[in-house]
Amino acid sequence: MKITFYWTDGRTEPWLDGFRAALPGTEFTPWVPGAPAADYAVVWSPPQAFFDEQTQLKAVFNMGAGVDALMKLNIPALTQVVRLDDAGMSVQMAEYVCHAVIRHFRELDAYEADTRAGKWSYRKPRVRTDFPVGVMGLGVLGTRVVQALKRFDFPVNAWSRSPKALDGVRGFAGTEQLDDFLAASKVLVCLMPLTPETQDILNHRNLSLLQPGGYVINVARGGHLVDDDLIALLDSGHLAGATLDVFRQEPLPSAHPFWQHPNITVTPHTSARTLREESIAQIASKITAMAQGLPVAGVVGRARGY
Ligand code: NAP
Ligand code: GLV
Repeated sequence: MKITFYWTDGRTEPWLDGFRAALPGTEFTPWVPGAPAADYAVVWSPPQAFFDEQTQLKAVFNMGAGVDALMKLNIPALTQVVRLDDAGMSVQMAEYVCHAVIRHFRELDAYEADTRAGKWSYRKPRVRTDFPVGVMGLGVLGTRVVQALKRFDFPVNAWSRSPKALDGVRGFAGTEQLDDFLAASKVLVCLMPLTPETQDILNHRNLSLLQPGGYVINVARGGHLVDDDLIALLDSGHLAGATLDVFRQEPLPSAHPFWQHPNITVTPHTSARTLREESIAQIASKITAMAQGLPVAGVVGRARGY
């Protein structure tokens, strides 16, 4: 079996060593133009030339959960696209989102500023029921985030494409219920895939529907958020703040106003990292299953785009 590998985000060797150890007897080599035809591919953001040459692949394994970069490419119809299915990401995402929600709810930024100024301050405790959290996207990551938020007794709303029932969560589905979902939420967490339907969904109209003093946490993709609309709503006071992990252009350009905005916290696309050991184990076991003709989880629906 031949597997080709395309990865530009860091050192390739530890990945190659890990895959070779997990799949002994396979030929696992980095892709270069003109490389021999492979059976499977493991990739992150390959160029179109990759698929123009590798037209016979049975499956391409994406080294992340989001396949938006792949969906922009022309991939042969018979090649299955498989996304990372948790692989240690959901617990990271739950940590990150709970941290951001609690930081805002408990006004920890303000306390820290006071502490730095040597001031022993008092703030009236906020009421948890005044902080309903709305999670957009109830998939692998959204479900774990919702469960974690519930442990802190926040009222939780969730919005997905198809209706879902989760204990203790107020569920909304489809475009017809989007406005009600937003109006029921004060903190908004975006955890949807970036598709033509979700592009620019965090826009002025939709964010205006959040309860006054709203807070936005975008951990999905920068293309969900209309940057100027967020800034306008923060500056008008309708929104109180935002925590942003993903951006239209990454790295976020140094002149971008998000860096300096007093109510925006920026992190460098780090909320849920691809973990090497977990990812290698998951992809290797899926390749083994596929080679035996067995079905695997995480196959992307090309028509829906995720
Ligand atoms: P997933 O399992 O595919 O779940 C996607 C969820 O979004 C599903 O609940 C789906 O609804 C919902 N959805 C899709 N299109 C929708 C629409 N048009 N309207 C309403 N709901 C819609 O994805 P995941 O593994 O949870 O990951 C979500 C995203 O997080 C990824 O695509 C990626 O962009 C991002 N991500 C970011 C990081 C980071 O470090 N910042 C790390 C990993 C992933 P249904 O349930 O009805 O299908
Ligand atoms: C990271 O952003 C991912 O999609 O896994």
